[in-house]
Amino acid sequence: MNLVQAKEKLAKYGQEHVLKYYDELDEQERQELLAQIDATDMSILESCRHREQLEQKGAIAPLAAMQLSEIEEHRADFTAVGREAIRAGKVGAVLLAGGMGTRLGSDNPKGMYDIGLTRKLYIFECLIHNLMQVVGQTDQWIHLFIMTSDKNHQATVTFLKEHDFFGYRPEYVHFFMQELAASTDRNGKIYLEGKGRLSTSPNGNGGWFISLKNAGLLELVKKEGIEWLNIFSVDNVLQKIADPCFVGAVIRRDCAVGAKVVRKNAPDEKVGVMCLEDGRPSIVEYYELTDEMRNARDEKGDPLYYFGVILNYLFRVRDLIEISDKHLPLHIVEKKIPYLNEAGELVHPDVPNGYKYENLVLDMIHQMDSCLPYEVVREKEFAPVKNKEGIDSVESARVLLQESGVIL
Ligand code: UTP
Repeated sequence: MNLVQAKEKLAKYGQEHVLKYYDELDEQERQELLAQIDATDMSILESCRHREQLEQKGAIAPLAAMQLSEIEEHRADFTAVGREAIRAGKVGAVLLAGGMGTRLGSDNPKGMYDIGLTRKLYIFECLIHNLMQVVGQTDQWIHLFIMTSDKNHQATVTFLKEHDFFGYRPEYVHFFMQELAASTDRNGKIYLEGKGRLSTSPNGNGGWFISLKNAGLLELVKKEGIEWLNIFSVDNVLQKIADPCFVGAVIRRDCAVGAKVVRKNAPDEKVGVMCLEDGRPSIVEYYELTDEMRNARDEKGDPLYYFGVILNYLFRVRDLIEISDKHLPLHIVEKKIPYLNEAGELVHPDVPNGYKYENLVLDMIHQMDSCLPYEVVREKEFAPVKNKEGIDSVESARVLLQESGVIL
């Protein structure tokens, strides 16, 4: 893209201000800025003017989860079915590690965080260790796809290579990068993070399948006969990956997707809750629940909107392929975004000052015909590391790890 074309595109979307320092840039910086302008989807940015409309939901109804008692009753059968699928190479795992982990406040990728106390224990190590347990039980290496973004790719790859993938077989590890999206102020104007750089951030975890496909890895999935992909977040250190009983339950119930869920610990806990939306599986965010829904109970007296998702989903690959050309809704999220001020100095704000534009994996659930919410014991499988301190923090995850017998 040349300067004239860039100006045309910027004028169309009211973003001409990003060329403010163009004359000060050297030739290489100019080319990089023009390339960035070319690659950036600016059409989505005007959506911030009608944010509220984007979040509107259809008619919400409860969706029953498969609860612990039912799982226990069928554990042997589900586990056998799951193990058989894993042994046949039909299950792959996808680690979503493209996020910025801004709340944790570490400059490194979240997986590089050392959660140990008396020894080094990295988050990546915890996750790989958990996956290796299933490899041990089934005698089958499971393809592990790792999504990064341009912001943390090199650091992630270098770190994992330096640590010999914590014992995982390198030929079963595949990296791919997700897309970035521009970040803006509250009026939808793109921030600059340098005189020749638009402010960008990863575009949410919802683009994982398209990014995997664009990286050519869907071909590998098909060639290897992988029929199920277990998507999981980087920041739950108790995460069970390719859990045979879960895999078996989803196969037995013939669902397009399974979602691990936990009982909420309070009616207003900040987790998305499984439900039906206009008759299809969906996830309703905690702030979208009305008081009536929060207090609704079934005939046994159990709360109806009670099972929160923990970002561990098992998707059937053939259904993913079917939905791959459907658009996901856009989420506009308030964040603290570093930016160049009027004087051209980089400012790190203490409070949210603008928006990031994201697609979310939870919206893929709504595109699926059927979903099995599968209950897991919170203390055994859910130890999220989101914040430095307090709720869902390094501290709380350490306690849960220790309670599960992990030596820190
Ligand atoms: P979060 O929603 O916690 O976002 O991600 P985050 O970027 O890691 O953290 P904050 O909000 O800045 O503190 C949940 C999971 O989705 C992945 C994360 O790496 C994490 O595993 N994710 C998130 C992506 O892979 N890409 C994204 O663009 C966003």
